[in-house]
Amino acid sequence: MLILSFLFLILLSHNHHQSVLSCNHLDHTSLLSFYNHISPTLNYSSSTHDCCQWEGISCTTHNSRVTILSLPGKHLSGSISPFLGKLSFLTHLNLSNNHLSGPLPPALFHNLKHLQTIDLSSNQFNGSIDHLFLHRVITYNVSNNSFTGIIPLSICRGSPFLEILDFSMNKFSGQIFHGIDECRKLKVFRAGFNTLSGWLPQDFHRLTTLKEISLPNNHLSGPINNSIVLLHNLTILELHVNELSGQLPPDIGSLSNLEQLQLHTNSLNGSLPTSLMNCSNLKTLLLRNNFLGGEISALDFSKLQRLQAIDFGNNSFVGNIPDTLCSCRSLTAVRLAYNKLTGEIPPCMASLTSLAHLSLSFNYLSNVAGALRILRNCHNLAALFLGRCFHDEMMPDDDDGLNGFQNLQILALGGCGLKGEIPNWIAKLRKLKLLNLSQNKIAGPIPIWLGTMPSLFVLNLTQNFLSGELPPQIGRMQGLIRRDNTSSDLSQLALPFLFDSSQYNRLFNLHRALKLGNNSLHGNIPEEIGRLRLLQMLDLSNNNFHGGIPDKLSNLVNLEKFDMSGNHLSGRIPEVLSELHFLSSFNVADNDLEGEIPRGGQFDTFSVTSFEGNPKLCGYPLKTKCPQVEMRSIPEKEEEPDESIWYNNVPFGMGYFVGLFLVLTVLKFVI
Ligand SMILES: *[C@@H]1O[C@H](CO)[C@@H](O)[C@H](O)[C@H]1NC(C)=O
Ligand SMILES: *[C@@H]1O[C@H](CO)[C@@H](O)[C@H](O)[C@H]1NC(C)=O
Ligand SMILES: *[C@@H]1O[C@H](CO)[C@@H](O)[C@H](O)[C@H]1NC(C)=O
Ligand SMILES: *[C@@H]1O[C@H](CO)[C@@H](O)[C@H](O)[C@H]1NC(C)=O
Ligand SMILES: *[C@@H]1O[C@H](CO)[C@@H](O)[C@H](O)[C@H]1NC(C)=O
Ligand SMILES: *[C@@H]1O[C@H](CO)[C@@H](O)[C@H](O)[C@H]1NC(C)=O
Ligand SMILES: *[C@@H]1O[C@H](CO)[C@@H](O)[C@H](O)[C@H]1NC(C)=O
Ligand SMILES: *[C@@H]1O[C@H](CO)[C@@H](O)[C@H](O)[C@H]1NC(C)=O
Ligand SMILES: *[C@@H]1O[C@H](CO)[C@@H](O)[C@H](O)[C@H]1NC(C)=O
Ligand SMILES: *[C@@H]1O[C@H](CO)[C@@H](O)[C@H](O)[C@H]1NC(C)=O
Ligand SMILES: *[C@@H]1O[C@H](CO)[C@@H](O)[C@H](O)[C@H]1NC(C)=O
Ligand SMILES: *[C@@H]1O[C@H](CO)[C@@H](O)[C@H](O)[C@H]1NC(C)=O
Repeated sequence: MLILSFLFLILLSHNHHQSVLSCNHLDHTSLLSFYNHISPTLNYSSSTHDCCQWEGISCTTHNSRVTILSLPGKHLSGSISPFLGKLSFLTHLNLSNNHLSGPLPPALFHNLKHLQTIDLSSNQFNGSIDHLFLHRVITYNVSNNSFTGIIPLSICRGSPFLEILDFSMNKFSGQIFHGIDECRKLKVFRAGFNTLSGWLPQDFHRLTTLKEISLPNNHLSGPINNSIVLLHNLTILELHVNELSGQLPPDIGSLSNLEQLQLHTNSLNGSLPTSLMNCSNLKTLLLRNNFLGGEISALDFSKLQRLQAIDFGNNSFVGNIPDTLCSCRSLTAVRLAYNKLTGEIPPCMASLTSLAHLSLSFNYLSNVAGALRILRNCHNLAALFLGRCFHDEMMPDDDDGLNGFQNLQILALGGCGLKGEIPNWIAKLRKLKLLNLSQNKIAGPIPIWLGTMPSLFVLNLTQNFLSGELPPQIGRMQGLIRRDNTSSDLSQLALPFLFDSSQYNRLFNLHRALKLGNNSLHGNIPEEIGRLRLLQMLDLSNNNFHGGIPDKLSNLVNLEKFDMSGNHLSGRIPEVLSELHFLSSFNVADNDLEGEIPRGGQFDTFSVTSFEGNPKLCGYPLKTKCPQVEMRSIPEKEEEPDESIWYNNVPFGMGYFVGLFLVLTVLKFVI
């Protein structure tokens, strides 16, 4: 590379008389040095000697000085040459989204007195950023790199025109030092996803031009000073995932332009200031995972007409869900889970027709039937979380007029102690993917119609009083047989702000599961379950199942967890189960199984606890040795070897031959 450009320079000097370089000589040399440090080679030399014509370069017209160097997303790697700092007329520098690395040369920008835009975002730069004096700079973006050290807020002193500062996604540490108030035109300040600590800058409130403060995922502590309410133009305030404490600023209502308030996952306490309800432009209000509390019904939501998402989850709010919440007609997501709410769901919630996601889990509400009658009118409802929300009521049944819910994909009603049977209205929820009725007191049979549910792929009925046999029709559940290509529906639920608590995170990579453990089911295990090819978790534990474990279960090639412990199963453990390569957890303890435990595959990894409580089982990993069977003495009792054993016993050469034969046969068909 060096040699190349050297030759190029020689070439240039030779040609000097014939071809007039239209780009300034100094800039030309500086650019060549800049290109020298990066790869891949840009096509600058092949096209023209006029560097003003090179890709991503623009010059002034009168003296051909380079003003713009813009090469974003060009897969560039290498480091920045100090010569870049000699492009003294540069106004725009954009090297965003490349693979450039190493530290920035010291004093790189010192002579670049005309620079207005610096975008070095999304590279792999490291080292610290030294003191900057950039008289004209307006935009400074170094986000998504590996810069260390303190945030160089001295930039504010030398740069009176700065409007945008983005330091996010680096490894900056220490406090946000005073001095930021000298950025008198600052509109956007981002420094999230670093390891900043200490209190918020005391002088924030002087930056009245600020529209956005975004400092999430740091270790900021201390209170949010009420003086922040002087930032009248603030539209975005993101301070989530920090260690902030104390109360919300009492006069927060003065922030009348506020659209996004994200303070979740901090240690904020006290009740919400009533003035918050004067922030009539709020669209997103996320306060989950704090120690906030107080009477929720004291809040008057009626001015928040633009509110789309509200998350008060995991706080200590008490009282009834207020009617005024229903006046927020734009609501798509409401999460009040993990609080101490009481009373009933207000009937006016039926008017929230945009609502897609409602979570009220872990509260003390009453009248589940009334709640469902109201919510069935929310036509867009896709996810309804009501686990541990009601207590010991009757499961709403078909007499409760529960049609509707045509878009429901997730219904979680576990842990409510609901009595009754599995109601037939659930059969009409044709988009349902997840049904969680675990930890209730539901009795009666497992309905045959479950097998006709077109999309269901997680069925959790554990810890109930279900009885009767497991209907073979369960083996028809389409959601566990073939992948639904239209299942992008579930990603429409991606209300990211609601999905970052573990409970919700799991929804996307949720295991396809059939969980029927801890009930009173009896009879044989239907071999039709073997058709549920996509099944990852099968839990039939602690029931009264009899008979053998069907061989056909070896068709469950995606199975990772298998639990049939605590039944009355007899016979041998099918040898073919050792072919289930993803099986990481296997439990048949406390049954009446017999014979030798299969060897090979995942079976070599299971421990004693998987098998104990079966006195007639023997072999590894149990201590009980299997009786030495004299193979030759009982030939007629030997079972007919199945295909796989036969194949395994074929000598290598023979297997190869068989394989080749198969390939040839296939080829014949293709040709
Ligand atoms: C450089 O190459 C790219 C594509 O390879 C092309 O689009 C661009 O016009 C070239 N630039 C010059 C100055 O030749
Ligand atoms: C840099 O270029 C990228 C890609 O074109 C663009 O998205 C970004 O806005 C530019 N940066 C600035 C500060 O203009
Ligand atoms: C900084 O650059 C990143 C992408 O590289 C972009 O996502 C971000 O919005 C930019 N920051 C500002 C404040 O424009
Ligand atoms: C960070 O930068 C890398 C390229 O260096 C890019 O692939 C990635 O998408 C960026 N991440 C974000 C969140 O912008
Ligand atoms: C910066 O990254 C380079 C590799 O790109 C590495 O060799 C160097 O040690 C790093 N320097 C610092 C200060 O982290
Ligand atoms: C809030 O900020 C003002 C102005 O900087 C300061 O005088 C006051 O002491 C701060 N209050 C608290 C509680 O930190
Ligand atoms: C606030 O925003 C308005 C409208 O964009 C603008 O006219 C005003 O100058 C801004 N105020 C400050 C202090 O920047
Ligand atoms: C809030 O927490 C602070 C300590 O951070 C404590 O001094 C104060 O008493 C708490 N206030 C309430 C209402 O719990
Ligand atoms: C809310 O705004 C109204 C009118 O703008 C005002 O009268 C009232 O005092 C404000 N309430 C609070 C608590 O700030
Ligand atoms: C509730 O918040 C606390 C403190 O932020 C956190 O430790 C806990 O995991 C959260 N619980 C849930 C269920 O999100
Ligand atoms: C199902 O409900 C139970 C009981 O409320 C809960 O522990 C479990 O996390 C829920 N599972 C899903 C996937 O919602
Ligand atoms: C099923 O419910 C049980 C008990 O409530 C819970 O522990 C388990 O996590 C749930 N599993 C799924 C997949 O919902």
